[in-house]
Amino acid sequence: MKKKAFIFDLDGVIVDTAKYHYLAWQKIATELNINFTLEHNELLKGVSRVRSLDIILELGKVEASQEDKNRWLIQKNEEYLTYLVDMDQSEILPGVMSILKFLKENNQPIALGSASKNARPILEKTGIIHYFDAIVDGNDVTNAKPDPEVFLIAAKLLGTSPENAIVFEDSVAGVQAANIGKMTSIGIGEEAVLHEAKYIFKDFTHIEMSFIENLIEKK
Ligand code: BG6
Ligand code: MG
Repeated sequence: MKKKAFIFDLDGVIVDTAKYHYLAWQKIATELNINFTLEHNELLKGVSRVRSLDIILELGKVEASQEDKNRWLIQKNEEYLTYLVDMDQSEILPGVMSILKFLKENNQPIALGSASKNARPILEKTGIIHYFDAIVDGNDVTNAKPDPEVFLIAAKLLGTSPENAIVFEDSVAGVQAANIGKMTSIGIGEEAVLHEAKYIFKDFTHIEMSFIENLIEKK
């Protein structure tokens, strides 16, 4: 049995913040007269803030100065942060706590691998920061998902090779990052969107503990 590393994405995996990112971006898109739908939003999941804005501007064929872009990036984050003010444990997605507890009871290393620069305050507000042996977020990486950098750093910090790392992701970019990094990708969400993942579950309540046990015991 090799030492494993369990790496969790944050937004849309541990907490339902994907909807808040969407609402905050939608406000900017509406101001710019850009049609920005839930389907478009899939392209932004797992993607950095800066790249997300570029994707939205490309959708609307809007060219903008760096000064305008910087202003919108600040505006988006300020809007997003308003949704986090009252955040607490109740925003943790169903089934997540049981998996985190099961992994801890079984002495499994756990890391966060997120593109967000707001990851630490979210883990603190939801009261689960102590579950994580390593936290790698948007402040620690230079290459955004689908580049595997964030997960490679996390696996390294947990003292495990990428082949023994297991990644939980809700985004296409994140699943691709795990696959490119030669890790086991577990998609959390819709099969139609996350079909590149090695395993796919609608949410954590659909994951049996025997499945996790098998991952732990895999040679
Ligand atoms: C990812 C989200 O986790 O973090 C993206 O899926 C988001 O939607 C990215 O753009 C960056 O987050 P933040 O909090 O730094 O703007
Ligand atoms: Mg995500």
